[in-house]
Amino acid sequence: MNPMLIYSSKTGFTEKYAHSLAEQLSIQAHKLEDIKDFEKFTQGKDTLIYGGGLYASGIDGFKSLQNRLPLEALRHLLVFTTGLSLPSDAVKQDVYGKNLVGLEGPSISFYYLRGGFHYQRLGKLDKFLMRLLKMRIDHKKKRGTPLNEDEKGMLAVFYREVDFTNMNDLQPLLQDIYALKRSHK
Ligand SMILES: Cc1cc2nc3c(=O)[nH]c(=O)nc-3n(C[C@H](O)[C@H](O)[C@H](O)COP(=O)(O)O)c2cc1C
Repeated sequence: MNPMLIYSSKTGFTEKYAHSLAEQLSIQAHKLEDIKDFEKFTQGKDTLIYGGGLYASGIDGFKSLQNRLPLEALRHLLVFTTGLSLPSDAVKQDVYGKNLVGLEGPSISFYYLRGGFHYQRLGKLDKFLMRLLKMRIDHKKKRGTPLNEDEKGMLAVFYREVDFTNMNDLQPLLQDIYALKRSHK
């Protein structure tokens, strides 16, 4: 049971986790955009680990993956996402509901990991969207409306680079892969 590992990462945080996973599982991490022939790539494989950054509650690249790869043919799908929000059941449920509900076929496991923020590495559109979000939060603050923890965090890190990645948080995913490997023996 050798899982495939595919990821999409705009500013490098998901990539860091993907590389660490690849090293620990002795497999290769493949960038979604670099895969040209999906049929050849997936031949004889039944388990996929997919990782993508979280953008407006959507897992980066996951829709495109679904369009290119018949996920229902897999036996196991393990999805991780990296976001700036503090991990909580509410965040996990929201992301799961918006991205993974209704997917039929494989057993699905989902992991939320903390990523980071690096404004300068963002593309033009994402920079614009983030400035809009910042304006909205600034406005809320000016009106005296209390900010939630995510909003406070956003204002604090906006023009700096912050990295909340922690490779120890990959343990639950790794343990699940080891268990799958044992059950395939
Ligand atoms: C336009 C935009 C939207 C984002 N939306 C979310 C979000 O909905 N939830 C969240 O936790 N983080 C959000 N983030 C933060 C990213 O998920 C975080 O930076 C992530 O670690 C990026 O991963 P990557 O560098 O691998 O693409 C957003 C960032 C940008 C630029």
